[in-house]
Amino acid sequence: MDKLKITGGRPLRGEVRISGAKNAALPIMCAALLSAKPLRLRNVPLLRDVSTMAKLLGEMGVRVERSPDGEVVLDAARIVHPAASYELVKTMRASVLVLGPLLARCGEAKVSLPGGCAIGARPVDQHVKGLQAMGATISIEHGYMQASARRLRGARIVMDLVTVTGTENLMMAAALAEGETLLENAAREPEVVDLARCLSAMGAKIEGAGSDKIRIQGVPSLGGAEHRVMPDRIETGTYLAAAAAAGGKIRLTGTAPESLDATLDKLREAGARIEIHGSSIDLEIARRPGAVSVRTAPYPAFATDMQAQFMALACVADGTALITETIFENRFMHAIELQRLGADIRLEGNTAVVKGVERLQGAAVMATDLRASAGLVIAGLVAEGDTVVDRIYHLDRGYEGLEKKLSALGARVERIG
Ligand code: EPU
Repeated sequence: MDKLKITGGRPLRGEVRISGAKNAALPIMCAALLSAKPLRLRNVPLLRDVSTMAKLLGEMGVRVERSPDGEVVLDAARIVHPAASYELVKTMRASVLVLGPLLARCGEAKVSLPGGCAIGARPVDQHVKGLQAMGATISIEHGYMQASARRLRGARIVMDLVTVTGTENLMMAAALAEGETLLENAAREPEVVDLARCLSAMGAKIEGAGSDKIRIQGVPSLGGAEHRVMPDRIETGTYLAAAAAAGGKIRLTGTAPESLDATLDKLREAGARIEIHGSSIDLEIARRPGAVSVRTAPYPAFATDMQAQFMALACVADGTALITETIFENRFMHAIELQRLGADIRLEGNTAVVKGVERLQGAAVMATDLRASAGLVIAGLVAEGDTVVDRIYHLDRGYEGLEKKLSALGARVERIG
């Protein structure tokens, strides 16, 4: 069942609940490695990437238990094998997040280099540079980063560029280092803040998460904690963009509206009416969306993880939109697939010039990565007739219960073989 058949042309109406954030859950699961005491997590989404992370941690000796209500308990009382194999790292790049915690807790780590990926080169040089500044010795042997350190020591680290998992890896390592670490040019993403909150609950001393300077006072050990994973802002944005493209009126509950400013602004610009009540977001759109241009950049600017969904929206919008990608060099694979549905897109370097058309037509398309798939699903919801999205295992990495949620909004979707 690797394809999703979407029969488009229906507006979306109804209410769905947003899941916990994949990109917060993954680093937070790795934080469990920093302590011999259990970490109890709530609102952990049921996703393939979360299972992959559980498997990776399990191979190291971490006990991972999920209860039916979505609570996950991670117990890293003993770490028997501080390593991450190529087999797992190549399927999920976030596996590199074990490097900092393993090194800090065990004094050694062997983590596969991730290699290339569908959206760009994605090196991990900033993770390595930061850990070296904290006193680690890291060599590359047979495709693996072989890292060791007696005890990491605090350092001032100015990152060459803004990296989300790089910031998270270094923040986790610094939590157990000797002395103070200052991370400059740090990522300000809400997921970094959520990780800092969890680490603080475990006893870490962190200031400034959410700004570009994070100060961490290392402590000798961390304890157990309970933490609720923040809502997924990209899942939220994806359903909002879908409704803006297909038309209709939806309510999303269990969201974190304050993490979605850039996306909500752009949806308003497209003509959507948006109302926020606590953690719920209502979106209503009564006419064809207007064309809105976006330029991706680190938080709080417009997220690269929302770029494909907004390209799909632009395909049916009234007017011409410029979609500029500045984070990843190869994140336009969906453009070629959208053209198969009748979209008018011209690629000029890192900008896609999208001229909205009145109608897309259903066709068979191929998903290349998680967010590209989300863009194709949105296009399928608006297209006339049937769209079949192949390789939807990409979607299972990051969208919990996608068909169920879309069906609850009145869409006609079905998983087929
Ligand atoms: N970069 C380097 N060197 C490094 C690290 C990053 O050159 O050592 C470059 C990357 O190649 C890229 C830019 O810096 O051009 C930013 O990459 P970043 O490190 O921030 O990305 P990431 O941490 O690997 C996370 C998310 C991605 C999201 C990006 C950008 C997780 C697990 N993943 O990746 O999410 O696109 O930040 O916001 O948090 C997704 O969910 O579909 C996804 C790809």
